Amino acid sequence: MENTQTLSLHFEENGSGKPLLLIHGFPFSSRMWAAQSDALGARLLAPDLPGFGDSAAVDAASVESYAEDCVALLDALDILEPVAVGGLSMGGYIALAFARLFPERVGALLLLSTRAGADSAEAKAGRDATIAKVQEQGPGVVAEGMFPKLLAPDTYTAQPAVAAELQAIMATASQAGVVAALGAMRDRPDASQLLPQLHMPTLVVHGVQDQVIPYSEAEAMAAALPNGQLELIEGAGHVPNLEQPQRFNQIVRDFLASI
Ligand code: MLT
Repeated sequence: MENTQTLSLHFEENGSGKPLLLIHGFPFSSRMWAAQSDALGARLLAPDLPGFGDSAAVDAASVESYAEDCVALLDALDILEPVAVGGLSMGGYIALAFARLFPERVGALLLLSTRAGADSAEAKAGRDATIAKVQEQGPGVVAEGMFPKLLAPDTYTAQPAVAAELQAIMATASQAGVVAALGAMRDRPDASQLLPQLHMPTLVVHGVQDQVIPYSEAEAMAAALPNGQLELIEGAGHVPNLEQPQRFNQIVRDFLASI
């Protein structure tokens, strides 16, 4: 089902049950959750962040502004009770900002292929260099650079349709959206100190073959969370929901049923 709300943030809504807000990674869109749409036993709400998918871009963004966009989406849908909030990679950075800013709105948290730490000085410089490149050459340079690392090495040959779909999704990202998101990721705060304060049930999912964020980051987050559950998926890289959808969906369904 397609929807547009007053902030002109486009979102997809599928399935029924309790609400589950899932925030996409960079430089993807809500389309990355196609294999989850009605498979999680939940009412899946998947926004397109500004400048991605079908949402209009903004000039600048932060993980906090994205979290505010997401809470505005819940408000617009009159969903005021605590809900499950999750995100993959950059979406996880935003989910952590959401939990910091709006803890009363989060009944459960899903941290997927993500990390709690901030960018190192070197990583920040890398973001700046990428922003300059995107401004010169367009957003395609990001997709080109990321593509070889996104999936588990075997997924490229075993599941070419998954690789093609990811490329197709990345091709829809706008230049302004990509630049704003790179700045938001560069400037995100370190959420490590927040983890021990997050008492809601939290599911941490990570692909063992993730070449973008190593799974040791997931182990560290789960260890620091008072109520964390760690699930590592063998045979998956950075996008386990697309690479191993059945396993991924089962894990999320079981988690949601247990809370
Ligand atoms: C993502 O997959 O969302 C990003 O690559 C994460 C990052 O660049 O830190």
